[in-house]
This record gives sequence, C-alpha cells and structure tokens, in this order.
Amino acid sequence: MFSLIQDRKGRFSPIRAVTLTILVVPFLRLLALWLTGGLGGRPVREFTHGTGDYAVYFLLASLAITPLRSVLDWQRIVPLRRMIGVGAACYAGIHFGLYVIDQKFDLIKVASEIVLRFYLTIGFVTFLGLLALAITSTDGWVKRLGKRWKPLHKASYPLAALALFHYFLQSKVDVSAAVFVTGLFLWEMIWRLTSRASRLQWWPLPLIAVGASVATAAVEVAWYGLATKIDPMRVFQGNFDVSYGPSPALSILLCGLTLSAVALVGRWRQRRIMVA
Ligand code: HEM
Repeated sequence: MFSLIQDRKGRFSPIRAVTLTILVVPFLRLLALWLTGGLGGRPVREFTHGTGDYAVYFLLASLAITPLRSVLDWQRIVPLRRMIGVGAACYAGIHFGLYVIDQKFDLIKVASEIVLRFYLTIGFVTFLGLLALAITSTDGWVKRLGKRWKPLHKASYPLAALALFHYFLQSKVDVSAAVFVTGLFLWEMIWRLTSRASRLQWWPLPLIAVGASVATAAVEVAWYGLATKIDPMRVFQGNFDVSYGPSPALSILLCGLTLSAVALVGRWRQRRIMVA
C-alpha cells in the first residue's frame, strides 16, 4: 500500500498521494453514505450506480493522461496512468460485487441475467477486459509480454466505448450524463486522430473542441432517434437553449475551449521564459 505513494526511487511522491486520495475518496464517501442511511431506500442500487459512474470517470481519466501530458506539457502525470486505470478496474469490480449483493448472492441468477440482458452482457465483457488490463499492468507483465504489451493495452479504447454503451443502455429517459462523458471520450479520440506534428501546435485544440462538440450532439440525436420515441430534432434544438443549463454538446465545447486557453497561456509563458 505504501509503495503506491512512492516513486520508482522509493521516495514519497506528493502527486501519487493526491491521485490515490482522489481514487479512494469517492468510494469512502459512498460507503459512509450507505452506513449512515444517506443512500435512500435502495442503498445497494445507489451504491452500484455511484461505483459504475466512477469506473467510467477513472477509465476516461486514464485515457486522458497522454493528451493532457502533450497539451499541458505535463510530463509528471505519465506514471499516474497505470494507477488510475487500475483504480477504474477496482471500481468496476466493486460495482459488479454490489450487483451480486443486490441479487442476494444468487450466482445462477447473476449468470443468467448477464447472459439474457444485453446491457449486463456488455458490462460484464467490459469488466473482464478491464480486469485483464489491470492484472497485466505490473512491471513483471510488461516484461513478460514485451512488444505485445502495448497493442494489448490499446484495448482500453474499445473497452471505454463498451463501458459508455453499457451506461447508455441502462439509462432511463435522460441520457445527458452518458452523452457528456461520451463527449469527453470523443474529444480524446479526435485528439488521437490528429497528426503528431499538429499535436505540438496550439491551433488544432479549438478545432478539436468544436469537432468533439458536434460529434457529441450527433451521438445524442442518434440515440434519441434510434432508441426512444423522443423527437431527435427537438433534442438537437435543445443545444441552443441554455435555460436548463448548457447541453452536453455545449459543455464539451466549453471544456475543450477552456483547455485550449490553458494550453495557449502555457505555451506563451514557455516562449517568454525561452526568450528571457
Ligand atoms: C461486471 C458486470 C457489470 C454488471 C453486472 C453491471 C450492472 C449494472 C447495473 C445493474 C446497473 C444499474 C442499472 C439500473 O439501475 O437499472 C449499472 C449501471 C452502470 N454501470 Fe454497470 N455493470 C457491470 C459493469 C460495468 C462496467 C465495467 C462499467 C464501467 C467501466 C459500468 C458502468 C456503469 C455505469 C456508468 C452505470 C450507470 C450509473 C448511473 O446511472 O449513475 N458497469 N451497471
């Protein structure tokens, strides 16, 4: 446990300690709410939802490390990727464990539900994938797998897409939260599609923000059009009405533009230091 907050040279690492705290606190908060009756009438179900949310957030956060390192020129965050990824797998494991508790440990029922309900099948496949990546994330496995390690760990992208699909499928009428996190994933994917040379520049970032925002709106419209009876045109028009707060697509645009502005300031300061 202590080694989790040490760097490779065995020294205390404040950034690892902060990351570990960020990973553990949501679980402790949910546990405290459960024990004090703060999770309402169906606490196990609420706990299941909360851990599912954090599994997705941390999975996306682990995928965001590479773009953030490049955009913010922040090399020190690279070793955190493994820790956050394993954290996501732990939340997925707890999420699954809570589902088993909710089914009163009836493992035959759990297995048959996973086989029969499509959204549970998708969730289970994602969980197995995340488990495999967490197990093979150690230095020993990196050495053992050699050149095969990197392609194997690229599976985290399709796994994230499956996790988001599971999120959509289990959502009831309102899919805004699922659409927003999908927008973050789309931003990451569009960033990865840009050439290595343009990643060193600042100017593609606002374009990526606009692209991710448009793609987010398209996913939302497509979901409502295909999976519900709600008029997708009205959903699209909702992007231009902020009376209920910004839509997921608008939120993604704002996040993307904010990141672009932070990157611009960072590069401007770097240039001034180099000139001085
Ligand atoms: C191991 C197999 C899994 C099972 C059996 C499972 C089961 C469930 C169940 C029962 C729900 C609540 C559905 C409802 O209330 O109607 C749920 C929601 C959810 N699950 Fe899973 N899940 C699994 C894997 C995963 C994985 C691997 C992730 C993410 C990496 C994930 C993320 C989520 C999310 C984000 C929600 C929605 C939470 C919310 O609405 O706030 N699940 N899952």
